[in-house]
Amino acid sequence: MCGIVGYTGKRPAQGILIQGLTRLEYRGYDSAGIAVQEGDSLAVIHRKGKVASLEHTLSHFDFQGTCGVGHTRWATHGKPSEANAHPHTSCGGHIAVVHNGIIENFAELREELEGRGHVFTSETDTEVVAHLLEEAYQGDLVAALRDACSRIVGAYGLAAVCDMEPGVIAVTRKDSPIVIGQGEDGAYVASDMIAMIDATRDVVILGDGEYARMTASGIEYTDEAGCAIEPRITHVDWDLDLAEKGGYPDFMLKEIHEQPRVIRDTLAGRLVNGALSIDELDLTPEELNLIDRVYVIACGTSYHAGLIAKNLIEGWARIPTECEVASEFRYRNPIITPTTLVVAVSQSGETADTLAAIRDARVKGARVFGITNVVGSPVARESDGVIYTKANKEIAVASTKSFLGQVVSLTLLAMLLAQAKGKLRMNQIRLLFRELADTAEQVERILAECKPSIEEAARACKDARNALFIGRGMGAAISYEGALKLKEISYLHAEAYPAGEMKHGPIALIDEGFPVIAIATKSPVYDKVVSNLQESKARGAMIVAVATEGDEDIKQHADHVIYIPKVRDAFSAITASVPLQLFARAIAIERGCDVDQPRNLAKSVTVE
Ligand code: M6R
Repeated sequence: MCGIVGYTGKRPAQGILIQGLTRLEYRGYDSAGIAVQEGDSLAVIHRKGKVASLEHTLSHFDFQGTCGVGHTRWATHGKPSEANAHPHTSCGGHIAVVHNGIIENFAELREELEGRGHVFTSETDTEVVAHLLEEAYQGDLVAALRDACSRIVGAYGLAAVCDMEPGVIAVTRKDSPIVIGQGEDGAYVASDMIAMIDATRDVVILGDGEYARMTASGIEYTDEAGCAIEPRITHVDWDLDLAEKGGYPDFMLKEIHEQPRVIRDTLAGRLVNGALSIDELDLTPEELNLIDRVYVIACGTSYHAGLIAKNLIEGWARIPTECEVASEFRYRNPIITPTTLVVAVSQSGETADTLAAIRDARVKGARVFGITNVVGSPVARESDGVIYTKANKEIAVASTKSFLGQVVSLTLLAMLLAQAKGKLRMNQIRLLFRELADTAEQVERILAECKPSIEEAARACKDARNALFIGRGMGAAISYEGALKLKEISYLHAEAYPAGEMKHGPIALIDEGFPVIAIATKSPVYDKVVSNLQESKARGAMIVAVATEGDEDIKQHADHVIYIPKVRDAFSAITASVPLQLFARAIAIERGCDVDQPRNLAKSVTVE
């Protein structure tokens, strides 16, 4: 949550900072600001609202300074307002700082600093850092930052500038991402390398407790003690197109359309000599065979991918599997032994609750696999093994392609466990793999053919106040994701229920025209789902059914049918979730919502 950027080099910083902030807006967008070294002082401008509003204000200034920092915010401490927008400055205005994270002991530090005469102008936790820097500053901004960080408790990515050190940006981090890159025209820092993708693809992912002193002529890296360290360069193979909409009206639609590619890339190289191989997990088949309990831990959409994995791991590998919301798991006392596998799923690899759950599980002796989309992210670094989901950068706040990447990766993991346990024979693995690979083409067909039926259903539901998503088995897991997509981008209240639970309560909600979206694809529980549909229909519900092509009977029970290609039930999450993504987006567009940046949300949830 929150994105920070910085640039020092030969070019005016203003435009570079704005471009970086625009690319980081997925991390938060309630206010934004920059601080630029202009002449011998700092010019600091902030605005409530999106980066575009800051950009508009800055068009009246046109600063020429070549060193500065910027921030786009998702409010934690203090409401979204101009005063609470970063950068925050010291009393004299000589030092400005941007921060991503939470300073947990800010209240006591603020009291202490106010006691010594510092005047605060915001309600944020971050402002204490500016005042601590002011007290510690003796001509070396990095040294002052090291001193300030010795006082603060919490998570932070910090970048600071000082008008007494022209051309210098001081940077550090703990539990919040910081990426640094050297371009031809200067040095860049950001919360995510997407901000600097047109300047360099060779970046340094700063480690916890490491510091950088960035200048136009180079970057020095030091550790907590101030000793020089060798930076580890990571090359990221990203295309500049990732930062652009590529002709689509929004990133969400672009990312939905990338899903066939995600499936193919996630599967590439996984079947070696007819056997499944996930070398990154670094476990022998014998060690895999010993696993006797699996927990999948995650939040939000990633949790829904975990629900699908539970069905697959139990179904194929016959290993008892629980899928738990990370924020619950971390505060329970789950049964963990050395043969327990914990699978942590996180698109961003930064989610605070998932990270805390990983740490807890490892302390208790579990082996932890991470499934993440971000190379070098905390989830990747803190897990014993990691599978990358190959979705590439996801910018829309609502996860789509990363979800599919997670589902495919978890499907492979379930097959691998079944292979190691001898529960699936090699010929079965090969058949499953082939069918899994075919889903790329099936998703392509859905994208090409389903638009009219999805838009018709969306128009019928757009004015509803509530909606229910129902399904059984895999369909229940898919329903949860369908409901989340709808509520987060259209603000329409939606809940998901296993269809069989309807008559234990939720059916009381149904009255004339109430939308019920049913996952009614051909599966072992198809007839049961149809009975549940009929019960809702009999009470006036308007039924939208996601059904298997060729199923003419379903038309008797549903008002709107979205047909998708037939796949094995185990792979139905891959195909059936795509029309639900498009359905949610179509309703959000009908309702005039910003599908890429829904209110109150941010892409990376780095706070508890
Ligand atoms: O980065 P993560 O996968 O750990 O994020 C978890 C959730 O915050 C995320 O899936 C969220 O629910 C998305 N907005 C869903 O579209």
